[in-house]
Amino acid sequence: MKFFVDTADVDEIRELADTGLLDGVTTNPSLIMKSGRDIMEVTKEICGLTDGPVSAEVTAMDYDGMMKEAAVLAEIADNVCIKLPLTMDGLKACKALTSAGHQTNVTLCFSATQALMAAKAGATFISPFIGRLDDMGIDGMELIEDIRTIYDNYGYDTQILAASIRTVNHVKDSAIAGADVATIPPSTLKALVKHPLTDKGLDAFMADWAKTGQSIG
Ligand code: E4P
Repeated sequence: MKFFVDTADVDEIRELADTGLLDGVTTNPSLIMKSGRDIMEVTKEICGLTDGPVSAEVTAMDYDGMMKEAAVLAEIADNVCIKLPLTMDGLKACKALTSAGHQTNVTLCFSATQALMAAKAGATFISPFIGRLDDMGIDGMELIEDIRTIYDNYGYDTQILAASIRTVNHVKDSAIAGADVATIPPSTLKALVKHPLTDKGLDAFMADWAKTGQSIG
């Protein structure tokens, strides 16, 4: 499973990229706003921190506007992935951009039929939003399972990018459901490695090791 980090905070991205475990980055207009940075500048900086895809989202609502913005964003770096909304214009732009060789991420997916349409449009990634469905009392993970079944039924190679992840269990359940990628907020990504028994076990080993008076090397 690939891990993307869902942020436009370059310090957080740099720290995670340094581990060698980061496969890409996703941003959206809200995350750009939160960063307080210019979209062109911050996206360029992020693209320099990872070789993986960096999703940058268009803000136009119509096909022509999306295509114009996509051309500007694609100029930033080779690893920019154009993020498009799940609307008919967004899918039309997705089809044109993937046919032209660009990576695309169709975002704001809340139903299996929307995901089917994105695959038909040739999307590189489809982003089902788990947390926002859970917020409404709908099981977001069922959507991941349904999309996995549909894509496997027809051999679509659009990658399922589990998005709007809020918890460590969202990551685990997405992996079990067969999502190809999870895009994860930095704090949740760091929490994936944590377990109280690991900390407790390590403390005990270190205490015993100190008693031996030995050192390695
Ligand atoms: C994904 O690409 C989105 O940027 C993100 O996962 C949305 O998450 P949120 O619902 O926590 O805003």
